[in-house]
Amino acid sequence: MERGAPTRWHRIELEGDRALVEIDGETIAVFASEGRLHAVANACPHEGNPLVEGEILGDSLTCAYHGWRFDLETGACLFGDVPVRRFPVELRDGEIWVALDRE
Ligand code: FES
Repeated sequence: MERGAPTRWHRIELEGDRALVEIDGETIAVFASEGRLHAVANACPHEGNPLVEGEILGDSLTCAYHGWRFDLETGACLFGDVPVRRFPVELRDGEIWVALDRE
């Protein structure tokens, strides 16, 4: 996470195992998988299609459009060649909070 930048947290709610939220012009896809939370930029680095429609398998997310695959823990691109941006996400007292600051 960037140091020195203010962190602005926003409470969100999942629909099933995922959520799509817009915060200050950033559209963020949030996923719950195997007890962990992940938040990434919704626009796929390939052609900008919505990653929220992708398939989650453990810590990997496969874009529904052309199959680029990302490691949700690191943002690394496992199939394709551009990583996805991640955002901080936390569970606090049963509520899910996402921050706009980039990791
Ligand atoms: S837009 Fe995601 S793989 Fe092409």
